[in-house]
Amino acid sequence: KRQKLAQLRHINSLANDYFRNVFKYHNTAARARLYLAERGLSQETLENFQVGFALPNWDSLLKFMNKQGYRPQAVAEAGLALKNENGRYYDRFRERVIFPIWDVTGRVIGFGGRVINDTTPKYLNSPETVLFSKGHLLYGLHLARRSIKEKGYVIIMEGYMDVVTAHRYGITNAVASLGTSLTREQGRLIINYSRNVVIAYDSDAAGVAATLRGLELLQEIGCQVRVVNIPDGKDPDDFLRRHGYQAWENLIEQALSLIEYRLRQAIGNKPVRTVSGKLEVMRQVFPSIAGIKSDIEREESLKIISRFLSSSPEAVTAEFKRFEANLG
Ligand code: GTP
Ligand code: MN
Ligand code: MN
Ligand code: MN
Ligand code: MN
Repeated sequence: KRQKLAQLRHINSLANDYFRNVFKYHNTAARARLYLAERGLSQETLENFQVGFALPNWDSLLKFMNKQGYRPQAVAEAGLALKNENGRYYDRFRERVIFPIWDVTGRVIGFGGRVINDTTPKYLNSPETVLFSKGHLLYGLHLARRSIKEKGYVIIMEGYMDVVTAHRYGITNAVASLGTSLTREQGRLIINYSRNVVIAYDSDAAGVAATLRGLELLQEIGCQVRVVNIPDGKDPDDFLRRHGYQAWENLIEQALSLIEYRLRQAIGNKPVRTVSGKLEVMRQVFPSIAGIKSDIEREESLKIISRFLSSSPEAVTAEFKRFEANLG
């Protein structure tokens, strides 16, 4: 069993070296190099994130692994090859930019691959293996953990490119949940380093929905959460390349607390004037207040609600007590 694990690690590590070398030196990787240069990645960033490339062929990695003494079946067990109906093995990652994914100590445990054209799926990940479980890791955490402690907060983003670009701009406390739904395990991983969490998901519909789910979860495990609102349905990568570091810092400063974010979602931008309107907003945001463990934080949140609704804190608190009582 232990030997198997060591073998999986070795195959991942060899594959990482292989993909990186292909990216740097192979003629066929020229398009990939150009693609990432156009997306603004410097040589230093590419090195830091160990970016690689998988050739378009069906068996480049398999051939390489064979020379290293690994049979196709072992490569498949590591998630890097698949078997077709005829029992022939082929490379999982083909013609994709490769982002290695590390555990917290920096060991490679899997890969993500992005197409360099418009084909789908846009991203492909290693399958779940004993080493690799997507819901149990945060992309870039081993590069970010020092900075998270120094800055006193972590920024959680959606994707590889968001984190890579963030680091390039000196925002080194950024990690990605890889896809949209944050898991409890990822939350737990975070609180080893900081309980102050800033969520900077894409501001498209999927990102907003995921943000709301993530908020609940992080609050439940005792995090202080704030939410960055990136304008125009964009993501951190788009925003940083377009507006730069200072504009990003401004967004972070303007990040909404959890309750403000929820109120904004419930209300929109227009003031709520009617009594029934106010009651409706309270009905929508009270469930998340009920999840707040700290009394002080809960009181603060009730005050914020009263300000948003232009009602007295006493009235809002009384409404909340009634709501809680009805919860039984
Ligand atoms: P770019 O187009 O390279 O900027 O990607 P993005 O990160 O902005 O993509 P998007 O916002 O659509 O997705 C965010 C993250 O979700 C990605 O970085 C991936 O981790 C994941 N993801 C997106 N699309 C896919 C997909 O088709 N398959 C899988 N497995 N994951 C995906
Ligand atoms: Mn997508
Ligand atoms: Mn998205
Ligand atoms: Mn993007
Ligand atoms: Mn995105």
